[in-house]
Amino acid sequence: MTDGTVYAAGWTLDDIPWSRFDRAKVEPGMVDAVKAASLVEYNAPAYVAYLHGVFAGGDPQTLDDITRWGREEAQHGIALGRWAELADPGWSFADAFARFHAGYRPPHFASDATASIRGSRRGEMIARCVVESGTSSYYSAIRDTVDEPVLKEIAAHIAADEFRHYRFFFDTMHAQTEPDLPFWRKLIVALGRVNESEDDELAFAYYCATVGADEAAEKPYIREHYARATLRRTGLIYSRQHVRKLVQMVAKAVGASPQSRMTEAAAVLAWRVMRLRAGLSVSARSAPVTA
Ligand SMILES: [Fe+2]
Ligand SMILES: [Fe+2]
Repeated sequence: MTDGTVYAAGWTLDDIPWSRFDRAKVEPGMVDAVKAASLVEYNAPAYVAYLHGVFAGGDPQTLDDITRWGREEAQHGIALGRWAELADPGWSFADAFARFHAGYRPPHFASDATASIRGSRRGEMIARCVVESGTSSYYSAIRDTVDEPVLKEIAAHIAADEFRHYRFFFDTMHAQTEPDLPFWRKLIVALGRVNESEDDELAFAYYCATVGADEAAEKPYIREHYARATLRRTGLIYSRQHVRKLVQMVAKAVGASPQSRMTEAAAVLAWRVMRLRAGLSVSARSAPVTA
């Protein structure tokens, strides 16, 4: 149950200072990352339908909050897509999204899905917390890294939303009357969701965002290739402090202490894995944002 303010969107597209767009400060690799993110964000209504199935018959306020959450995610997609069109006037958000939407249809998006693929509502909320941990830290990293003022502003607004989303799903998890899950079960759900980051959703979004329909015949979708490209791009954006925050949020979601030595060790490991996947030195303190 929420009070209707903690989780409310605090901004609209009119709050973005679009006229301050500075082409000289646009970094091409970041444009690709933003294009891909816009497609995933704008696909949120599919998740809303799925989550409504998972929470069918549940607290009406939760269902309303899920609807509002989906609207906020879709707005993220529109804002990012509009920025990407400014940065690359030859790119069409609508066209890229149409291809992504047509091609990305995981089984749990079937309209008659009524149960969580995580096994329970609590498990579903842990998975959502993992995603919001990832997005809040990702947009924080973009906010802290880019020089282009409009994207910086968009990323700041989105990051704030993603932190609220985490709080919403975290609170919703604890509001469930289902018995709490054992720690190992929560960990499996969380790690399973982290692992899904390498599945089709991000990779196919990156493909649809960066390969035009007219190039598709000569550049077919190969999941491994575009999953690697996504991981590399992501690794270039995150800095160590953002990875640490991400891991701390995931730890909290599974009931572990965000400040424990185990969590700290996991953060170091995650940082190293991310750097290696991006083809970067594990000893560097921060990541350059160049292609
Ligand atoms: Fe989002
Ligand atoms: Fe979110």
